[in-house]
Amino acid sequence: MALSFAGLLIAVLALPPSANAGVKYPECKSGPLKSNVVCDTKASPEARASALVAAMSNSDKLANLVNNSPGFSKLGMSAYQWWNEALHGVAHNRGISWGGQFSAATQFPQAITTGASFDDDLVGQMGIIISTEARAFANAGRAHLDFWTPDVNPFRDPRWGRGHETPGEDPFRNSKWAEAFVRGMQGTGPTHRVVATCKHFAAYDLENAGSTTRFNFNAKVSTQDLVEYYLPPFRQCARDSKVGSIMCSYNAVNGVPACANEYLMDTILRKHWNWTDDNQYVVSDCDAVYYLGNANGGHRYKSSYSAAIGAALEAGCDNMCWATDGTQPNAASAFNSKAFSQATLDKAMLRQYQGLIRAGYFDGPDSLYRSLGAADVNTPFARETALRAAQEGIVLLKNDDGFLPIAQNSSLSVAMIGFWANAADKMLGGYSGSPPFKHDPVTAAKAMGITVTYVNGPLTQSSADSSAAVSAAQKSNVILFFGGIDNTVEKESQDRTSISWPAGQLSMIQKLAAVGKPVVVIKMGTHVDDTPILSLPNVKSILWVGYPGQDGGTAVMNIIAGLAAPAGRLPITMYPSSYTSQAPQTNMALRPSGTYPGRTYRWYKDPVFPFGHGLHYTTFSISPDTAYPAKFSIQDVLADCTKVTGRTYYMDLCPFPSIPITVTNTGSRTSDFVVLGFLTGMYGPAPYPIKTLATYKRLFNVTASQPGTAKLDWNLGSLARVDEKGNTVLYPGTYTLLLDQPTKVNVTFVLEGREEVLDKWPEPPS
Ligand SMILES: *[C@@H]1O[C@H](CO)[C@@H](O)[C@H](O)[C@H]1NC(C)=O
Ligand SMILES: *[C@@H]1O[C@H](CO)[C@@H](O)[C@H](O)[C@H]1NC(C)=O
Ligand SMILES: *[C@@H]1O[C@H](CO)[C@@H](O)[C@H](O)[C@H]1NC(C)=O
Ligand SMILES: *[C@@H]1O[C@H](CO)[C@@H](O)[C@H](O)[C@H]1NC(C)=O
Repeated sequence: MALSFAGLLIAVLALPPSANAGVKYPECKSGPLKSNVVCDTKASPEARASALVAAMSNSDKLANLVNNSPGFSKLGMSAYQWWNEALHGVAHNRGISWGGQFSAATQFPQAITTGASFDDDLVGQMGIIISTEARAFANAGRAHLDFWTPDVNPFRDPRWGRGHETPGEDPFRNSKWAEAFVRGMQGTGPTHRVVATCKHFAAYDLENAGSTTRFNFNAKVSTQDLVEYYLPPFRQCARDSKVGSIMCSYNAVNGVPACANEYLMDTILRKHWNWTDDNQYVVSDCDAVYYLGNANGGHRYKSSYSAAIGAALEAGCDNMCWATDGTQPNAASAFNSKAFSQATLDKAMLRQYQGLIRAGYFDGPDSLYRSLGAADVNTPFARETALRAAQEGIVLLKNDDGFLPIAQNSSLSVAMIGFWANAADKMLGGYSGSPPFKHDPVTAAKAMGITVTYVNGPLTQSSADSSAAVSAAQKSNVILFFGGIDNTVEKESQDRTSISWPAGQLSMIQKLAAVGKPVVVIKMGTHVDDTPILSLPNVKSILWVGYPGQDGGTAVMNIIAGLAAPAGRLPITMYPSSYTSQAPQTNMALRPSGTYPGRTYRWYKDPVFPFGHGLHYTTFSISPDTAYPAKFSIQDVLADCTKVTGRTYYMDLCPFPSIPITVTNTGSRTSDFVVLGFLTGMYGPAPYPIKTLATYKRLFNVTASQPGTAKLDWNLGSLARVDEKGNTVLYPGTYTLLLDQPTKVNVTFVLEGREEVLDKWPEPPS
């Protein structure tokens, strides 16, 4: 279509006010809202939100059910973009504009790497820094107050393109990670620094598998798997962390698209988890509502877009994100065709704006967090924390003859080969912003005074020329190969079909190993099957780094040179490449059956490296307190929890006596150590639990003379099992806590008495 210049000008002028420009706080002292209760900071958030909604006209309400809200000009409320991203740092995305003093923001490692740190204080600190920077961007009119992070779906299938956005495959680990991160993002007080969003609710971890895509996939999930595996991070977010927002996912669950799923969004989320109307809204994943109607490629769950909008809103979705692939949702037309009710419209407004009230949107320029500004972005502390996060998340997978760390000396020369050896951009991964600096491994090695010969290597190219790499290797005394995959290979809307090492990289590693010098493979990204390189004699060491963020190169070189000691643990099971032909991606079942091998460390038996694997530069021993009781009575424990708290309790949160432990460093290098505690035993119906992560703790700087001590905390939920109806049950029986991976020592105790249901699960619709 050809528009004249004048026509173009008119078209531009006719656009609604841009919602992308950054937050413009409403004027409460002089604007149209000045005598409205919404501006009264002493009134309750509920009262303030109700007063605001009462002042809105229906046509304005209908226009503001979308992410790019035009605002309420009669109320002096500017356009507002609900869609802002900050998965591992303030990101490049619609609601955020970069420039001036806000040209950079701290870029932490992706969640898969901080997942490997098993350090929740670190994750909480990261949340504080990200939200502080995000709020500073917002205060400067460069972002808004809602951030659609974290991504806490358990990483079920190794092909998933977005697995690196999550903390890993284990629901308990993801729940703890989410707890720490949401607390960091929102803050602990009544006013939120920013509003966090836990996504994607629920059972989402497929982008595309043949003609099945995330827009039309119907995830068939048993009630047991849903409660035990897919939902715990969301229960943590909603029920326990009171996150400000939840995003419903593209896929359907048992026949009903998640964004129109009343069972998930109302029966479970709002009612069973008590995530009431008071401070939170559900936002749809972008275009999810479009794809649940009659759109091509979607669920075809409803026969028109209007009906889809009605189904989503009536089921409990409060804001429809539109990604511009689909058609913009027309809420007014859906409302006029009676696809949803006035009460539903008012409730959606109430939920959306209570979130903003709690983030201080109407509290004036002197309110909490409004003074955050450019000086609070990219602070030295943020830089240190980003480096520490990368170091803590690096996992030493293999280290023959204690080859690493490399002792530095004046004749040390290394060949640094591979696609990301000097490509710092690669280390950031998806949903990134602009970091204040990017330190790639080559730059970091040179800064340490190491003699470096750098040669690029292939990413996916299958017949790459290895001659330059081999000749660099011949001139050096150590070969560092930087391989794996990046987020052009695994990414949003693109799952993989293979988890093998890319052929060109494998062939280059084989040629480098044949040179006769020691080779260290440093692996970026998530799943690739290391089997073919584990048998190469000169490949002494393998490090896994995930996506280590802005200072990833420094972190890697610090570990290689021994300036930091590796103590991360795999947050995922590393599967053999044959797994992809044994487990159809669309099979959501966790348990094995027939030739289906099952999923995750709980059920899959033949990993290349197991979940929790991670070596050290030293050795450790663990001693649990021998005075830990051998027997508990279930009824006494339950009586105690109500006595201690004096209130009605979610019984799964009731603490179970902690186990004091001492960790001794039996080698000579100072190192952190992650204590992993897995439960197994004979309790409840057969088949008995295989092994379930029940508690963990990272101990810092453990030395031979300074052992690490900790109390391993857990609760009744860690001990309970989920039955086929979804009930969480505490059973009598014999429990064994296995410490470390592989197990170093165990603690056995008995629970006596009657089994007790800790959480009675609402039956799904039949
Ligand atoms: C449910 O939430 C409401 C409002 O947040 C709160 O008053 C109530 O105590 C909660 N119920 C439980 C069992 O925690
Ligand atoms: C220096 O370090 C390299 C790599 O560890 C080693 O191969 C070499 O023998 C060392 N040289 C001296 C003089 O120690
Ligand atoms: C561990 O030791 C390092 C190096 O001495 C220090 O910077 C860091 O603060 C220590 N960490 C903790 C948690 O004590
Ligand atoms: C626990 O440790 C004891 C003693 O080392 C060992 O005999 C037993 O097999 C272990 N139990 C499990 C379940 O690993």
